[in-house]
Amino acid sequence: MRYIEDYANNHFAMEEKYMKELEYPEYGLHKAEHEKVILNFSGLKPELEKIKISGSFAGSYELSVATDQMLVDWLLDHIAKVDKKLADFLNE
Ligand SMILES: [Fe+2]
Ligand SMILES: [Fe+2]
Repeated sequence: MRYIEDYANNHFAMEEKYMKELEYPEYGLHKAEHEKVILNFSGLKPELEKIKISGSFAGSYELSVATDQMLVDWLLDHIAKVDKKLADFLNE
């Protein structure tokens, strides 16, 4: 979970830097998409901690896998749609 989270954060920061530098017209929209997933993801974290503390390791593992999967699915969707648009712009 840490790994995929760090990956997403670094990836977003890099994209936002490029968008700003190149005055990408959809910067606001794209950044909002990034913020949405960060928020959703951080909302799940306290739940994950609670389960860990309660000692239900099986549940904690399952939730951790589900959370990772959610983020991966979201990233793939974002890359296919929102990032594709940015890539087209950068290639112009
Ligand atoms: Fe991306
Ligand atoms: Fe992006």
